Amino acid sequence: MYKLNGVKLPIAAMKEHMKLLYNGKTYNISRGTLLSELFKRENMDIPMVCAGMGRCGKCKVRFVSGAPRATSADSSFFSEDEIKSGWRLACRAVITEDAEIETDLSAAKEDKAFSIKEESREDKCEDLSSGNFVAAIDIGTTTIAAAIISPKDGNDIIKKAVTMNHQRSYGADVISRIKAANEGNADVLRKLVTDDLKGLLKNVALKEVVIAGNTTMLHLLVGDSCEGLGISPYKPVRLSYPEMSFSEVLGVTFEEKDIYDETECRIMPGISAFVGADIVSGMYALDFYKIPEGKTYMLIDLGTNGEMAVADSKKITVCSTAAGPVFEGGGISCGMAGVSGAIEHVKIDKEKKTADYRTIENTEPLGICGSGVLELVSELRRCDIVDETGLLADEYFEEGFILYKDEKKTISFPQNDIRALQLAKAAIRSGIDTLLSEHGITSADVDKVYIAGGFSEHLDIDMIKALKMLPEGFINKNITECVGNTSLKGCIKALGDCDYQKKITDIAARSSEISLAGTDTFGESFISAMNL
Ligand code: FES
Repeated sequence: MYKLNGVKLPIAAMKEHMKLLYNGKTYNISRGTLLSELFKRENMDIPMVCAGMGRCGKCKVRFVSGAPRATSADSSFFSEDEIKSGWRLACRAVITEDAEIETDLSAAKEDKAFSIKEESREDKCEDLSSGNFVAAIDIGTTTIAAAIISPKDGNDIIKKAVTMNHQRSYGADVISRIKAANEGNADVLRKLVTDDLKGLLKNVALKEVVIAGNTTMLHLLVGDSCEGLGISPYKPVRLSYPEMSFSEVLGVTFEEKDIYDETECRIMPGISAFVGADIVSGMYALDFYKIPEGKTYMLIDLGTNGEMAVADSKKITVCSTAAGPVFEGGGISCGMAGVSGAIEHVKIDKEKKTADYRTIENTEPLGICGSGVLELVSELRRCDIVDETGLLADEYFEEGFILYKDEKKTISFPQNDIRALQLAKAAIRSGIDTLLSEHGITSADVDKVYIAGGFSEHLDIDMIKALKMLPEGFINKNITECVGNTSLKGCIKALGDCDYQKKITDIAARSSEISLAGTDTFGESFISAMNL
């Protein structure tokens, strides 16, 4: 026997060959193949939020025939009936006989909704291969966003495109990606992200590209080793990059070189292993290099790596806090990315205890995305359906709070999901409190708060009051603004700014990072921030 991801696989049986039928195609595989490994090898996209640890329940497949023995992880995600009808987790399913499978329909729909999404300006449909354009790119852990810009039209955005970061089959957060890279998958991860970029920029000849992303994403993009990022004292290979050609960054083959070898590429600098170029780019987008005397601004980027900065005219203090994938819908039983069909807003009737919701693009609900999760838990608390410790009222304990139900699916929010959200919000709230105190101020001294992150575009700040994720004054004083993807906005701004280098260097130089775990107050603050 040998073990892969904690699953025991029979060595002797490896030589036998099996047939696996999926989506009308037959795969010849060795007996003992772990299904999720086949998915990765064949570049078949399936959500694997926990990187195959059997903890997130996202890699659901149904065996039409040849189902392997159910594991304990299967039993914690599927009912007995579901197990009988062939449902298994792909990351636990060891193929031991010929089989036929189908994937979770809602996951497939989410994928479809998340294949490249483009918005183009019809009045600007000139030839995109003319080479007159420049591009801004933000490489996020979950999504990759690009904006194509026409400098001759006063930096007008002529096309925006977003795609899933297909590295996600190696886990939802940076820690899983670092681990996967250090286990020999760095080249695969690099290929996945460069293929995503090529897909986003297809047919567009570019003069210049500016890229931002967190430190791990940029290491994986340019092929730097992630070894130092995976172990204390968390040393990146580098935090700033020389100007390169875009083909160098992509590591493209000789035949492709004619497209990008003339394209200049600038990569934004980062501050540390976990406070990356994305937050630097965000601070630059929000003019943190020219904060007026006597004013204090704060930037909170609600992603898996919860980076934040507090700044005045003299100094900037930054930190990162491990919030996990909840804000992007990960680690939640019915969670999904913020794409068509995701429940983005929730309002509960306090008397009837029924929920009213709205989905992105007003389509049939498939699951719940980050903004929906925050609003739902805030509403559950406001309506006393959960108590201040986060415990669901007895009548909801079994099934969770049900948002939607038809014959085929139920979208509910069980106790475990509330706990996952409590951990994420406690990481953010205690991060805010500790950062402010290390900067030598309190929340009352802050004049402006920016909430960044792709999903913040869907967030209604007034609807998350009861969550206590932000200090009360941030909401009541009306100083908080949701600003969307500031990392991308910084890259767009840099394309038209000849002083960009000076400003960005100033931001990075004035920033000092604090390690939350190294402060006296973080632990205590985290525990009290768990309460709702
Ligand atoms: S449970 Fe399989 S990837 Fe998370």
